Amino acid sequence: MKYAAAIVLAALIPATHAFAYDEKDVIDYRGHIMKSLDAQAAALGMIVSTQIPADNLIAHLDAIALTAQQSLKSFEQKVPGGESKPLVWEQWKDFSERMNTFAAKTAELAQTARTKGQDAVVADMVSALACKSCHDIYRNKK
Ligand code: HEC
Repeated sequence: MKYAAAIVLAALIPATHAFAYDEKDVIDYRGHIMKSLDAQAAALGMIVSTQIPADNLIAHLDAIALTAQQSLKSFEQKVPGGESKPLVWEQWKDFSERMNTFAAKTAELAQTARTKGQDAVVADMVSALACKSCHDIYRNKK
């Protein structure tokens, strides 16, 4: 059974690799995902500053962790441009580690909020949202 699955996979992989992605689409795609991160982080900010009730706090943290994973996938195609510096792909190991750490830390905060309550995570939220530290190195702000 496993063997058969491997043959099917082997047949599929060259087909996906041969697919030529449109560079503008690759850049637009990662932009959309970053904008989702932006909206979720802004919503969390409203909760932290008590402008709105905190009911969705865990859901926002879950959404950010999931979106960070999507984001890493969206950078796998090496297409410099948009606001990305070429450094993203020149230092892929560091870039991907930062994104994975960001995803892991926000997932961990969601888990802590579930088990210990929301007040337990507010203090760590700012350091977990590693947006600026990554942008400072890898993003050209226009
Ligand atoms: C590990 C690195 C990394 C992390 C973490 C990260 N970003 Fe980004 N972000 C980038 C890069 C690189 C770009 C440039 C993408 C492009 O245009 O090619 C970007 C672009 C953006 C953009 C512009 C999108 C557009 O197309 O207009 C926004 C907004 C943004 N990020 C928000 C955030 C927020 C908010 C967070 C944290 C909650 C975050 N980012 C975390 C690397 C990161």
